[in-house]
Parts: sequence; structure tokens; C-alpha cells
Amino acid sequence: MDLLSPSIIESQLDSKRLGKPIHHYFQLDSTNDIADQLATDGAPEGTMVVAEHQTHGRGRLGRSWFSQKGKDLCFSLVLRPDAPLNNLSCLSLILGIAVGNAVEKISGLKPDLKWPNDLLVNGKKCCGILSEVRTEFGEVKYLIVGIGINVNTKVVPKEISKTASTLFQQTGQEISRSQLLAEILNCFEPFYFGFLDQKIKPLLDLWVKKSSYAEDRWVVVKQMDRSFQGITQGLGEQGALLVKRGEGWVEEVLAGDIVEWGKKVTRS
Ligand code: BTN
Repeated sequence: MDLLSPSIIESQLDSKRLGKPIHHYFQLDSTNDIADQLATDGAPEGTMVVAEHQTHGRGRLGRSWFSQKGKDLCFSLVLRPDAPLNNLSCLSLILGIAVGNAVEKISGLKPDLKWPNDLLVNGKKCCGILSEVRTEFGEVKYLIVGIGINVNTKVVPKEISKTASTLFQQTGQEISRSQLLAEILNCFEPFYFGFLDQKIKPLLDLWVKKSSYAEDRWVVVKQMDRSFQGITQGLGEQGALLVKRGEGWVEEVLAGDIVEWGKKVTRS
């Protein structure tokens, strides 16, 4: 069985900080919750929680997250960035690039990035990221980044099958979860150090380059209390999605979801 055993993951890790240490669980509610508890108790930056089976996986905006026991990847990292709260959205975007690069390296697929944190293959979501920040007196205390990837599941539940898929469904091949996980940490660490060194702009530019949604795309954005449409215009300095709503009217979207989209539009 392709277990996510710490020794197997460690043997494939090149990282200095991420994935040190690794806490492996056969079953838990949510890797984010356990990582949060460990971080509260003082776990160092880079601590990772990984589970074979997550019973109450949480998604963004109060949604639940599907994964199958022993087949998919569910893990969370404790980060303690010395960075302003406002920059943390950029960090989740940067993590998305790293996950995409690792998926490409291990599976040969080329995932698309949909703002803010979805990885799509052939228009279907295979991966999501849930970032949760804890602050104290307005300062970042720590951040938990939870990553879910549908890897070797053969059939996804009917309710999500129109919008979600798995790497197995897209390649017809099983992928080593431990290899993919180690590769994600190996890809993310240099980006993370770049982020800590304030070299954020080139990373946001890379995100825009890798996303077919970032520019010239008609989208409907849904937020807590409203929805609106417009044409995407790239990213703002803090990772906000820029959406043109009319002549001279560009809105910076810091929170929300793209729920509908069209083909790329040609600029006039
Ligand atoms: C999304 O809504 O797209 C984010 C999904 C994040 C799921 C992962 S699985 C590991 C970690 N633990 C959770 O409960 N959620 C995240």
C-alpha cells in the first residue's frame, strides 16, 4: 500500500525547513485542526500533519472537502512568516504555483490556476488550498496551509463529478502520493523563502502566466453578500484579483470565488 509514512517522505525531501517534523495519522477530522493545535502548543515552522483518512475535511467558504481513505492527499503545514497580514493572500497563491509545478513534474499534467486557490485539469478541480491565519494584536502569529489533492480516487461522488476530478481520472495512472507530497514541499520551499525575502512581484507574475483565468476572461465573482461580473485584469500587489467592471472601474477582489467564466476575450 502507498502509505504516507514519514520515513518514505523524508527520503525524498530536499527541504531545509518544510516537513520537519512530519506527524502522520491514519485517521483524523481535519489536518488543519491538528496542525492548528500543534502550532498553538508551539510546533516549529515547517511542521506537517498528513493523514491517510480525513473524516471532516474542510474547504473554503464553509464547504466540506471530499477525499478517499488511502487514495488522496490531505496535509497541512505550520508556517510562521515574519510578514504583514495583508501579504498572506499572496502566499496562498504562491503555494498554488508550487503545487501545480509538483503535479506537472510527477504526473505530466499541466494544471491551470483558478483564483484564488484552485488547481484545475481540463476545467475540473483536482486540488484546493485552505489557509487559516491566527493573529495576536494584529500581527501574524502563525498560518496553517492545508492542501487537498484528489490523487488516486477512481470515482468521485456524483454531487461533485461535474466540477471535480482526480489525477488518476486525468492520467489513467496511479501516482505515488509520498513522491508527490515530497515534490510539493521541494517546490514550495524556495518560493516561500522568496516570499520571506519580499520577492513577491515575480512570483505573482508567474501566477498570472500560469493561470488562464488571470487576464482577459469574463467572470462572475461571488462574495459573501453579492455577485458581480467583469473582465479579469491580472493581480494587485497583495494578490487581489483585478476585475474590470466598466470604463475606468477596476475592482480589487480580495475574497470570494469565481463561480462562472467564459472564454478569453480579445482586448480592444
Ligand atoms: C477548497 O475549498 O478548495 C480548499 C480545500 C482544502 C482541503 C484541505 S485537505 C487538508 C486540509 N484539511 C482540511 O480540513 N482542509 C484542507
